[in-house]
Amino acid sequence: EVPVICIDGPSASGKGTLASELAKRLGYHYLDSGALYRVTALAATRAGLSLDAEHEANIVRLIQTLNPRFDDGRIWLNGEDCGTAIRADDMGGKASQVSALPGVRAALLDLQRRAARLPGLVADGRDMGTVIFPQAPLKVFLTATPETRADRRHKQLMANGFDAKLSDLLADLQARDARDTQRSVAPLKPAEDAKPLDNSQLGIEESVQQVLSWWLA
Ligand code: CDP
Repeated sequence: EVPVICIDGPSASGKGTLASELAKRLGYHYLDSGALYRVTALAATRAGLSLDAEHEANIVRLIQTLNPRFDDGRIWLNGEDCGTAIRADDMGGKASQVSALPGVRAALLDLQRRAARLPGLVADGRDMGTVIFPQAPLKVFLTATPETRADRRHKQLMANGFDAKLSDLLADLQARDARDTQRSVAPLKPAEDAKPLDNSQLGIEESVQQVLSWWLA
């Protein structure tokens, strides 16, 4: 049995930073499941498809033909490293749209489960603990206030060379939270056995230490 740690939570709660740092410390693999939805949105947009139920079957076919590959934080589409393109400001919202399509979620399921390889996996997303790895021995539900998250997202975008207004980011986050928690398939919610962690007042190292102490307990 491959040990899996799930880190779920809303947009810009710091899941990626926490999960990739944990993976590094433990020597585990890292699954950024949001990147799969982002890459799907990118590919569908490039193919000129609308990101709704009307084109659901086409988007599913696109996933099957594009065969996205990822390994520990990097992601390729037909040989192109699209790590930066999928981080663009508008790709988060688009990823959220395609992620509400049940066929898309089903098409990405195996790809995610196959990421669980020895010596272990840290998986970050919305439904790692509830749907993808329900047997995982440690599930963390990471949150922070919307203002803290908007501020973090702003810094992250600037660092990647994208420009954005803080107030727009806050509005986008709140719209995304609403869509992610209200959708009918795999809505964002803590697994029953998840440990809540609010990191609004915590530094990265403090969050890492908290999860490590749960893991090693
Ligand atoms: O951190 P942020 O939410 O901006 O981005 P992300 O984690 O890359 O996820 C982008 C979008 O993909 C989210 O808004 C979710 O709607 C969706 N997603 C999902 O539905 N399930 C996952 N396991 C991961 C992401």
